Amino acid sequence: MEVVILPDARSIGSLAADAIGALLQRNPDAVLGLATGSSPLAIYDELAARCAAGTMSFARARGFTLDEYVGLPADHPERYRTVIDTVFVNRVDFAPGAVQGPDGLAADIPAACAAYEAAIAAAGGVDLQILGIGTDGHIGFNEPGSSLASRTRIKTLTRQTRIDNARFFGDDLDAVPTHCLTQGLGTIMSARHIVLVAAGRGKAEAVHHMAEGAVTAMWPASILQHHPHVTVLLDGAAASRLQLIDYYREAYESKPPWQGI
Ligand code: F6R
Repeated sequence: MEVVILPDARSIGSLAADAIGALLQRNPDAVLGLATGSSPLAIYDELAARCAAGTMSFARARGFTLDEYVGLPADHPERYRTVIDTVFVNRVDFAPGAVQGPDGLAADIPAACAAYEAAIAAAGGVDLQILGIGTDGHIGFNEPGSSLASRTRIKTLTRQTRIDNARFFGDDLDAVPTHCLTQGLGTIMSARHIVLVAAGRGKAEAVHHMAEGAVTAMWPASILQHHPHVTVLLDGAAASRLQLIDYYREAYESKPPWQGI
C-alpha cells in the first residue's frame, strides 16, 4: 500500500487524474470503478476539466459505480446513479450506457446483485477503482462485520453511516435509507489498481486502521492490505494518526519522477 500525503484536495484530484489519464493512454477501453460521496469530487472536477480541455477522453471507457441506496425513487437527487451522473458522467464524454450501477429499485435484489457481478466480469473487471472511506472504516457500503470475501449484495447501513450521510438529506436522519446495494469487499479486491482518497480529521482513525491496523472485518478497509496495488491519497488531517507518516513522506519524495502511483 502506497500512502501519499498531499497539501489539499486539488493536489489529490490532480494526482489521481494523472493515474487515470495514464491508464486511458495505455488502454482507452479501460474500466473505471466509481465512488460517490464527497471524497472523489476533486478527482471528478479535474477529470471533467481535462476532458473539456481535450487532453483526456472517456469515449471508449466504461464505469461501474460502487453502491446504491435501496428504495430511493428514480428521480431522487441523492440516488447515487443521479449523483454520479451529475458530478462526473454527464461532464465527460462517456458513450451512452457506458456507466452502470447496482439497481436499488430491483424487485429481485439477489438477482440484481448477481447480474451486477456478471456485468463487471463481462467487462473484464475493473482496471482502476476510486474509493472513499467511511469514518467507521467502510469501503463501498461494506460496514464493520462485512465478510472480507463478500460480493455485491444488500447491506444494512450502520447508524453512524446514516448520521454521516444525513448532511445530504437536509440533516434529516429519518430520510436516509436504511439499506443499500454495494459491491462486496471481494468485488473491490478484484480491481487491478485501487486509489483511495480521504480528507479531514474525521477520517484519521479509519485511515490508521486501514493502513496500519490488523486486517479485520471490524475495519473493513483493512482488507486492502492484502491487495498488491493500492494507492492512498490523503490530506494532512486524514494522515494525522498514521504511525509511519514520516516514512510515507520520505518514500514518496524519493520516488523517481517517472514512476506514477
Ligand atoms: C460512496 C461509498 C462510501 C463513501 C464513504 C465516504 O459510493 O461507497 O464508501 O466513499 O462513505 O464518504 P465521503 O466521501 O462522503 O466522506
